[in-house]
Amino acid sequence: MTDLFAHAGIGGPAREPIAEGAVLLRGLVLAKEAEMLSALDDVVAAAPFRHMVTPGGFIMSVAMTNCGAAGWVTDRRGYRYQGDDPLSGRPWPAMPAVFLDLAAGAADEAGFPGFAPDACLINRYEPGAKMSLHQDKDERDFRQPIVSVSLGLPATFQFGGLARSDKTVKLALEHGDVVVWGGPARLAFHGVLPLKDGEHSLLGRKRINLTFRRV
Ligand code: SIN
Ligand code: FE2
Repeated sequence: MTDLFAHAGIGGPAREPIAEGAVLLRGLVLAKEAEMLSALDDVVAAAPFRHMVTPGGFIMSVAMTNCGAAGWVTDRRGYRYQGDDPLSGRPWPAMPAVFLDLAAGAADEAGFPGFAPDACLINRYEPGAKMSLHQDKDERDFRQPIVSVSLGLPATFQFGGLARSDKTVKLALEHGDVVVWGGPARLAFHGVLPLKDGEHSLLGRKRINLTFRRV
């Protein structure tokens, strides 16, 4: 197939296998871009981005918020999911339907049917912000995949194996791309290199990542 259909729509999204259980779906979000960005604005208006503190006392360079029944938080007491936003004391904003549909569709496309995420961590990277190699392992059910959506400035995503020391591949993630990892890749180490400065036509000087999980 030619590049004509490389971006979601006829013929489906362009799939780039990363590892067994992990796939990059290029441009999957583009067809729903406006709806996604408008839903994102609503979530952020109700639960603003904030820089959380790690248990070790470091302020994270990535600013975060959440939507869904549970939100991922970190503070001096540790990492966990909780139903209330610690800033407001109120429940996190509900997961917008367009988020749910996109995450379920991407998981299905990647071979994980029936994904019903109850948590969406929203990461905001400004130039220089990064996410060190880590595993997503604060969830209870590792049979459910992780669905990760990239918006705004491009970033270099590192994807490795089940040991921190395993070799990593570097993927250039762009606005609209979705990465899904599950099954044998569910606990793969991954991270994001420091964001390069730039200006995105819709999002300005930042990258937004949505990470959908079943807690
Ligand atoms: C994460 O692992 O939570 C973030 C991944 C990303 O920003 O692409
Ligand atoms: Fe992660």
